Amino acid sequence: MMHYLTRAFGFSASHRLASAQRDAAENDAIYGVCTQLHGHNYRLEVTVRAAVDPAVGFACNVLHLDRVVQETVVAPCDHACLNEVALLAGVVPTMENIASRIWDRLESPLVALGVELYEVMVAETADSRVSLRRE
Ligand code: NI
Repeated sequence: MMHYLTRAFGFSASHRLASAQRDAAENDAIYGVCTQLHGHNYRLEVTVRAAVDPAVGFACNVLHLDRVVQETVVAPCDHACLNEVALLAGVVPTMENIASRIWDRLESPLVALGVELYEVMVAETADSRVSLRRE
């Protein structure tokens, strides 16, 4: 039996959806109004899975999990322009790309905590979110 633990985070950031590999007309055709600089109050949920350690009664120390996510994702992204942060270098900062980069960044430090990353959920608005989940 595995337990799944989810922690929620938030950060406020700006972005614009446009690729430097395309001209303005192409970017407009693909991304529409999202080519304009704008902001979101992003919500991030990170779910890990692990067996409970009976000695302490939990699968993962949430303080340690929080520290990893805060240091690697929230601090660099909060009140930043996502087109300029190292985490998203070279990709258009869509929810899909944000979730993928967060996954890549979190996977190994979470292994070091003894848990397996199971899901990363990134939401830009109440109506729009992307989940990346281990198959
Ligand atoms: Ni947006």
